[in-house]
Amino acid sequence: MQEDILVVDDDPDVLDILSETLNKRGYNVVVALDAQSALRSFKRKQPSLVILDIMLPDMDGLEVFKRMRADQADRYIPILFLSSNGDLETKLSGFDMGAEDYLVKPVSLKELNAKIGKILKRTSQAQALWEEREALETEVTKEHENYIHINKQLKKQVLAMKTLFSISQDLTRILELDELINAFALTIVGELRISSMAFFALVSENSKILSLRGVKGFRKEKFAGLEIPRDCAFVEWLGTRAKPKKIVRSNDRTWVKRLPDIRLAAFEYATPIMIKDKMRGIVFTGPKLSRDDYTPYDLDMLQFICNSAGVGMENARLFKELQTTYLSTVKTLVSIIEAKDSYTRGHTERVAEYAIAIAERMNLPQEEQRRIAFGAVLHDIGKLGVLEKVLNKKEQLDTEEWKILKAHPEVGASIIENMEFLTGTVELVRHHHENWNGKGYPDGLKGEEIPIGSRIIAVADGFDAMTTDRPYRKALKWTEALSTIKEGSGIQYDPEVVRSFEEIIRDKNFRKRMREKHSNP
Ligand SMILES: [Fe+2]
Ligand SMILES: [Fe+2]
Repeated sequence: MQEDILVVDDDPDVLDILSETLNKRGYNVVVALDAQSALRSFKRKQPSLVILDIMLPDMDGLEVFKRMRADQADRYIPILFLSSNGDLETKLSGFDMGAEDYLVKPVSLKELNAKIGKILKRTSQAQALWEEREALETEVTKEHENYIHINKQLKKQVLAMKTLFSISQDLTRILELDELINAFALTIVGELRISSMAFFALVSENSKILSLRGVKGFRKEKFAGLEIPRDCAFVEWLGTRAKPKKIVRSNDRTWVKRLPDIRLAAFEYATPIMIKDKMRGIVFTGPKLSRDDYTPYDLDMLQFICNSAGVGMENARLFKELQTTYLSTVKTLVSIIEAKDSYTRGHTERVAEYAIAIAERMNLPQEEQRRIAFGAVLHDIGKLGVLEKVLNKKEQLDTEEWKILKAHPEVGASIIENMEFLTGTVELVRHHHENWNGKGYPDGLKGEEIPIGSRIIAVADGFDAMTTDRPYRKALKWTEALSTIKEGSGIQYDPEVVRSFEEIIRDKNFRKRMREKHSNP
């Protein structure tokens, strides 16, 4: 493409000479005789070079130069001054303002050609560099924005992963079904920021009906009597994947027919809870608090929480099954000892009831309560090693017999020490005859050295022994027995346990319950 050169001079002869020379060199020459027309042509043509006379009739050449350089975008256009006197001061001001070079009149055409060639070459190199820099800058900006975007995404993903991890940990660790369902409901409402949810589950694996197990955002009564048949069209429509399905579509009224009950129209999504490819429950989730639609992330989150809840439910079921097996093992052990010792029949069961009530009253952790329950039931299992005639003897025991009887906590501990599920219970059995003042057996432990479970069992055991007939004496009344226990507080028994026990015994409902279950009190 031909390059434009703007030549500004008030002398037509100079213009002619320069135009002719430059045309011959292949440039397209635009001429201007005064400053005003020069500025207009400059704006319109955007030439590759300006040759500018310093002396113009209507404006100082240096002023013209300044105006040409006023616009940032035009600053790369080189300007070559023409000066008739070659005066140094003018030259210097031109350079100060960024002119490329100057020519002195009369112009030497050879010099003109050489300078123009040099300037244009320099300009085009500078232009190329400029463009390259621009391109690089654009690329760097783009990369930077990209980086910021990726960084934000990563942060979000890390947060999501952390959330998912803690949800899955929480929901799969809880072994009590009711506790699990509550945690599950709170997690769904909190994580998705929704206003309501309801959870329906099969009562048992073979049950034909899903019934309400948990609700948030509505009173439970709203869904009273609502049951979802396992084989209804709605359940079939939900399918066999734990994937959320939208149940309410404003432009499609057919969903109403599909719902098993119109009350469920309060929810937006239904998600099945699957365990080993079998549907065990359905979670209904209501609108978001923000009134926005669920995002794909919300739906993934919902699916994930439901999957975790499914695993949690299965864990809880297996745990319960295991506990039932353990319990029946323990019951078998107890029935063996009770068969041998007629006077202790019912004793273990009552001791367990007192001990569990104390542990609950003292707010001990669930796991501790479970250990205490087993410990209370099994505390006298060591009596299996004591001869029946000793156990049932009406007269005072002799030294040898007494020694055998006193070994029962140790014998009991050794009977159950290899049963893994009773690991925390072994020490409770071993220490149930220790005294608070350190004068008990077998190890003479004192105060809080004695496991809390043993201190509880000791009170429960003592009270039941006093309130039941023994081969050597008649049963005491509850009030008498309670006074004896209180007398032993701080000596034989832990004062704190005695205090809790007294509260239980003074509780009318507890007494009534015990009276109904056991004939004596
Ligand atoms: Fe005992
Ligand atoms: Fe006992």
